[in-house]
Amino acid sequence: MTVCDIIRKKRDGFELSEEEIFTFVNGYTGSVIPDYQASALLMAIYFNGMSDRETAALTKAMAYSGDTVDLSAFSGLTVDKHSTGGVGDKTTLVVAPVAAALGCKVAKMSGRGLGFTGGTVDKLSSIPGYRTTMDVSEFLSIVDRVGMAVVGQSERLTPADKALYALRDVTATVSSIPLIASSIMSKKIATGSDSVVLDVKVGSGAFMKSIRDAEKLAEKMVNIGTAHGINTSAVITDMNRPLGYSIGNNLEVIEAIKILRGEKIPGLYEECVSLAANMVMLVKKCTYVAAEKSVTEALSTGKAYDKFKEWISAQGGDISYIEDTGKFKPAKYSVDVISEETGYICRMDTEKIGICAGLLGAGRKTVNDSIDYSAGIVLAKKYGDRVNRGEPLCTLYTNNEDGIGDIADRYRAALDFSADAPETLPTVYRTVHNQESI
Ligand code: URA
Repeated sequence: MTVCDIIRKKRDGFELSEEEIFTFVNGYTGSVIPDYQASALLMAIYFNGMSDRETAALTKAMAYSGDTVDLSAFSGLTVDKHSTGGVGDKTTLVVAPVAAALGCKVAKMSGRGLGFTGGTVDKLSSIPGYRTTMDVSEFLSIVDRVGMAVVGQSERLTPADKALYALRDVTATVSSIPLIASSIMSKKIATGSDSVVLDVKVGSGAFMKSIRDAEKLAEKMVNIGTAHGINTSAVITDMNRPLGYSIGNNLEVIEAIKILRGEKIPGLYEECVSLAANMVMLVKKCTYVAAEKSVTEALSTGKAYDKFKEWISAQGGDISYIEDTGKFKPAKYSVDVISEETGYICRMDTEKIGICAGLLGAGRKTVNDSIDYSAGIVLAKKYGDRVNRGEPLCTLYTNNEDGIGDIADRYRAALDFSADAPETLPTVYRTVHNQESI
């Protein structure tokens, strides 16, 4: 069977065998299959989808394409969390220390931001001294001592996903349910946690634009996790507006610290509680209500905030910035975006808002670009808020003034207004559990 036969079979709507999928993944990762053939197969998958059997085989082939992490020393206690990608999503900075403060072990490898979505590793890198790379033995010893560690993804972990994701990014094949499910779950299998909570974002700032598609993706990932013996839950959360009020690396760290100090920032607080409670529930095998109670206590008593400081310090971060967030260097320029309309904000194009933050310097256009940690956006008004003409909608922060007027125009264009208040959107739509976790 040649690569061309595999492409033709998928193009014509037939199911690929496990052997054919392994041939493709190993061939592409080993540079035997060229980009043009891999792109053709990805596009055929994009249009024809994949059966559960094919998705499972693709996940397995990618998961074992490189190193895997052995967390058996913490057997039964390990829990990971992964978001499908959003704007202003700083939940890992909150939920990981909450879970660790409650006795879970969180050994997390996080990604950098690319495109309109942010990355946890970039946010953490904005804390002076914080080390995102270290060898596996130091990583595991911090998990053992502190209960958690968060580093960037090692080059040797799931190299097939790395190569295929980069190709998908430039061939318009990212937003395919089987391709996203196998990409995320291959990384979760390789990083070895017993339990995983997936944050499946839906809305204008997410890959999944409809609840039905978000449900399909959530169910697919939960089934893959279950098939690999991982206790998996997926929480479907709203991304029709940025999460919280801050977008941009050190701005988001500061907002996460507010939550850890007990502030209940609407939307962000509820989502953090839901994700953390699901993590605790999977590890402790308790009810959601019991898990939620311990999570809210860990936040209100400062237990999670203390764990956060212990973790940041263990990875070399300068704690004085956490204790006094005024020490984070602000951006040189700040510009208010003024509303030209009066009415209720009835739609936020969250992807466009994420792009504005990237243009201000908070994100990269290409993988090798550097990041301006102080750049970003602080929202004054969000979906559902009433605004008068002349009032600020948000403040833009940047160290490079060029084009800031255009970015302000883009921001305004990302919003729609209505005379009446729009319907309220939930923060969490629903949770998909596997059999063992309920
Ligand atoms: N996040 C991933 O890790 N992979 C995808 O395909 C999409 C989001």
